[in-house]
Amino acid sequence: MDQNALKRQVAQAALAYVEPGSVLGVGTGSTVDLFIEALAASGIKLAGAVSSSERSTKALAAAGIAVLEAGQVESLATYIDGADEIDPRGNMIKGGGAALTREKIVADLAARFVCIADASKCVDVLGAFPLPVEIIPMAAPQLIRRFAALGGQAAVRAGCVTDNGQHILDVRGLKISDPLAMEAEVSQWPGVVTVGIFARHRAKVALIGAPEGVRTLNF
Ligand code: A5P
Repeated sequence: MDQNALKRQVAQAALAYVEPGSVLGVGTGSTVDLFIEALAASGIKLAGAVSSSERSTKALAAAGIAVLEAGQVESLATYIDGADEIDPRGNMIKGGGAALTREKIVADLAARFVCIADASKCVDVLGAFPLPVEIIPMAAPQLIRRFAALGGQAAVRAGCVTDNGQHILDVRGLKISDPLAMEAEVSQWPGVVTVGIFARHRAKVALIGAPEGVRTLNF
């Protein structure tokens, strides 16, 4: 089974976590694109969706699903999104698609984060995937030095401007053994908009696509 088929499998499985008539939080990425396709084909009627990117907003609108602004809802029951890495406690690295800030904002509104990912995303310790950090461009040099002091090699992602008009640093070489502590620390550095560690907003459920079928992890 190729990676795309595994993503398709979890995209389909995520439909069981969609409450008809609700407003759903929708993430970003290739797995979420497949989820939006599956949702459109399922016939499940939603009151609408809160989207985490221009990319997902376009896909949702094309599927005939009403897209609401985050400010139009006070809370969401469920947020469905992919991940670049997920550890055994549901902590994640996200932001490979540069949508991490809006993803964290929408995840913050939701009671339950349902992560959909193929098994290649499962790791024991976060950090093999370069950690994305959305930053204010003028702070790049000093943030690169701060990461170097932690043993990380940070570089500005070439040619990438986020939906918020900012830049992304990708940080290689970090071993994130305490995701909650590192998220808290990096989040307060001046110039950081959002760090792609999702520990405070970790997954409550993960649907992991593997050749033998979908594994459901509850955290
Ligand atoms: C987008 O910024 C990311 O957080 C994605 O959720 C993550 O990169 C997973 O993407 P794929 O579903 O494309 O693997």
